Amino acid sequence: MDKMVIVGGERLAGDVRISGAKNAALPIMASALLVDGWNAFHNIPDLADIRTIKRLLRSLGVEMEGEETLQVNAGRITNCEASYDLVRTMRASILVLGPLVARMGEARVSLPGGCAIGARPVNLHIKALQELGAEVTLKDGYVEAKASRLKGASIYFDISTVTGTENIMMAATLAEGTTVLNNAAREPEIANLAEVLTGMGARISGAGTDTIVIEGVESLHPVEAAVIPDRIEAGTFLIAAGITGGDVRIVGCNPLHLEALIAKLRDAGMRIDVADDSIRAAGGGTLKSVDVKTLPYPGFPTDLQAQIMALMAVSDGLSIITETVFENRFMHVGEMIRMGADIVIQGKSAVVRGVPKLRGAPVMATDLRASASLILAGLAAEGTTVLSRVYHIDRGYQRIEKKLSALGADIRRVAG
Ligand code: UD1
Repeated sequence: MDKMVIVGGERLAGDVRISGAKNAALPIMASALLVDGWNAFHNIPDLADIRTIKRLLRSLGVEMEGEETLQVNAGRITNCEASYDLVRTMRASILVLGPLVARMGEARVSLPGGCAIGARPVNLHIKALQELGAEVTLKDGYVEAKASRLKGASIYFDISTVTGTENIMMAATLAEGTTVLNNAAREPEIANLAEVLTGMGARISGAGTDTIVIEGVESLHPVEAAVIPDRIEAGTFLIAAGITGGDVRIVGCNPLHLEALIAKLRDAGMRIDVADDSIRAAGGGTLKSVDVKTLPYPGFPTDLQAQIMALMAVSDGLSIITETVFENRFMHVGEMIRMGADIVIQGKSAVVRGVPKLRGAPVMATDLRASASLILAGLAAEGTTVLSRVYHIDRGYQRIEKKLSALGADIRRVAG
């Protein structure tokens, strides 16, 4: 298993280009299941999670060609089952459930089970599919869903769920009649998926708001469409600029998707200049502590909570970071403490007292975003940090060590 070796203390400077969003590419690739014919998706990132969904789609009989521009054809679906082996490595595999039932009338998808950041059930996906008329059974760790044709319905999500909204929005495109998704999630990745589905001939309004209306159609046609830039990758590099006192231009991003983070970084004392599709971020001097509370979009993203905690660990003062989206997403705290951070967990909050310096240490990644936060901490620390279990970061960041080195960081990947 690879490790990442980081020698802290370098100030980052220069331009970094942002890749396509993992969390938009995954549902967009799954949406090809709704269509007979070749789709073309641009700006697909090169990530382990993308390779996983490709394996899953291939196992269903989907043909694919290309990398950054990916052609996908689900003309001949030969299998409607997503196996445990594929789903357990990536929860988002559940995204094939809605499209498969809608197009094929049946699907069998392994239940994802727990993961490092909490129980993360899929009960809301299942309940909504039942409300669309699917017959759903849970057997041997699998969700089995059947429906000759789904029927439009008014659905209310108890909790704002991103992949739940995406799954049901995809399913409803081919349902008979109109579906209304109430308390739908509002993440930009949902609007991107809706844009792709609309290009396929779906009738969707309200994506990006909490009420999405989908008028079902008989069939969809292939589309050519692009994945939006990854706001979490962009946010991670903004924080990298701050934590190293650097001056970095983040190129090819959508600043409107990062407003919650930008507001916090400005409050902390960073200089942030926003252009149409780039952001220049400069640190310099000790930053001030700010409080952060994660919320569904447009609130502060839970996927940037660990990274901003690394910044707060070396800021001046006391910061209270409250996690409201996932119940167990403080796995990075113990590792940061090993690097000299002063953090105490109190229920859903972490109380972070900034220290003047972190110290390099051997640390272990526990999940995707936690690994990013430990790399950030390593960039700011005195001495050498060795991060193991690097496969977590490869799930969601395209060649992060290359992008950071190009900005002047001392970071390298070592095998074993
Ligand atoms: C997506 C993102 C993930 C991000 C998360 C929250 C993808 C591929 N992943 O994950 O990076 O951290 O949104 O922004 O887009 N819940 C239930 N029952 C359900 C579904 C969800 O109780 O059926 C709960 C979850 O346990 C969690 C909350 O709802 O507490 C939000 O989860 P959700 O938005 O569904 O996260 P994901 O879609 O899995």
